[in-house]
Amino acid sequence: MRIDILTLFPEMFEGPFANSIIKRAVDRNLVSIYVNNFRNYTHDRHKIVDDCPYGGGAGMVLKPEPIFEAVEDLAGKPYVKNPKKPVILLSPQGRIFDQKIARQLSSCESLILICGHYEGFDERICQHLATDEISIGDYVLSGGEPAAIVMVDAIVRLIPGAIDELSAADDSFSRGLLEYPQYTRPAEYRNLSVPDILLSGNHSEIEKWRRAQALKRTLERRPDLLQTAMLTKEEEKMLSKLLAEESE
Ligand SMILES: C[S@@+](CC[C@H](N)C(=O)[O-])C[C@H]1O[C@@H](n2cnc3c(N)ncnc32)[C@H](O)[C@@H]1O
Repeated sequence: MRIDILTLFPEMFEGPFANSIIKRAVDRNLVSIYVNNFRNYTHDRHKIVDDCPYGGGAGMVLKPEPIFEAVEDLAGKPYVKNPKKPVILLSPQGRIFDQKIARQLSSCESLILICGHYEGFDERICQHLATDEISIGDYVLSGGEPAAIVMVDAIVRLIPGAIDELSAADDSFSRGLLEYPQYTRPAEYRNLSVPDILLSGNHSEIEKWRRAQALKRTLERRPDLLQTAMLTKEEEKMLSKLLAEESE
């Protein structure tokens, strides 16, 4: 997979991409990540990327020319939108990023992420260049860079070989549920003990406990997820029991 990021602040990616799982995936050639400064696609002496909004108002708007030219350079000219090769604008107005989108994007051949700044993008970029607009939540960041870092992290860890696939399978959201509680040594710490079942060595009972805990936790913290979660028959039974207990 190839990921290109278009940004005015390439230095912001240095730390996050030089560590941990992203670095390992790059070192293993599972993904190549290129951070491109779209200021390099300007043609004037001052390398201007923004201008005042038509109609007046506060702030500056990102001009279309450098971003169009940068995307054409990376995706080919004439540029034709291709949902299989997404060109994504980071925007608080986009659809909300989640594990499902991360999974879909992790199977793409290539991906271009465009980070906005100031007041955001000239609307022609949104309409004629982007295949999608994605937000990482209902709040406004100063720029798209932290959002792109979040997306790249979530996407790269889903590329086969990036992490232990068994551990990813149990991660929160992968089946629509939150993950069960985890414990590690010591078994007793300041009078706080690990649940006996986890020390029992009985793998099928441990598995059952974990599934029940994942359901319980999801019901308590994110009941909205249960509407679309993929539950087995046994999990449905466990959930009915939990709901019955809750209404007692
Ligand atoms: C200050 S914001 C612009 C907000 C814009 N004026 C609006 O109200 O929709 C500057 C840039 O930060 C990025 N950004 C801000 N919030 C974001 C979010 N929640 N998710 C993704 N990107 C975001 C976008 O790239 C945006 O163009």
